[in-house]
Amino acid sequence: MSLAAAQKFVDLACRAVKAKGRFAVAFSGGDTPRRAYELLARPEFKAHVPWEGVHVFWGDERCVPVDDPRSNERMARKALLDHVPIPPAQIHPIACAESPYKEAERYESLLRDFFTGWPSAFDLVLLGLGEDGHTAALFPRSSGVKEMKRWATEVEDYEAGICRVTLTAPLFNQAAVVAFLVSGRAKARALYEVLEGPLDPTQLPAKLIRPPKGELLWLVDEAAGAELKET
Ligand code: 6PG
Repeated sequence: MSLAAAQKFVDLACRAVKAKGRFAVAFSGGDTPRRAYELLARPEFKAHVPWEGVHVFWGDERCVPVDDPRSNERMARKALLDHVPIPPAQIHPIACAESPYKEAERYESLLRDFFTGWPSAFDLVLLGLGEDGHTAALFPRSSGVKEMKRWATEVEDYEAGICRVTLTAPLFNQAAVVAFLVSGRAKARALYEVLEGPLDPTQLPAKLIRPPKGELLWLVDEAAGAELKET
């Protein structure tokens, strides 16, 4: 799964930079993508990525300092970004310097400026899946899942007792490619519910992600796919 994700990243980055001079990717947090990020830092992948054209954004972030182990930026820097020649100005973290609300506004306006005049938004969005069907920080029955206009919004993560900033379905769905990475038996029920179950997207927010003009990929390991019925 991680190899497939790393290979997809390389292929899409090469294609996008060749065609339009840049490649915009939204990174997922969580633990699942760590291995793919580490692979991309290895010489055999790193050498094939046109890093000078890569722009990195995040699909969501916890409002914690960047040296906090819960920070998605920290994880991506340690696993990948600290080891590749990407121009620092092309790394665009979500950083809740003021309030989560203000940061969501700042990040949305950065993204709107960045994508103005381009046919699609992200060239690649990487997403994970929570056991409750959440993706990014779009949690079941939260205000974020009802968002139709804003590209970024602040959310309460009640379980963790912190705020988060997340991008929203209206933006994710403008991507050229969205790839979910899902691994492990603990995700099998959620994956089944999202792909084959009857519940609606407010209960299973990952179901909101359906880019009408883009490609939706599910990169899953055998354990996570254990409950899928359709082949
Ligand atoms: C995050 C996320 C979140 C994550 C899922 C899966 O910042 O944590 O973006 O949506 O992808 O919770 O997390 P794991 O990969 O750790 O299982």
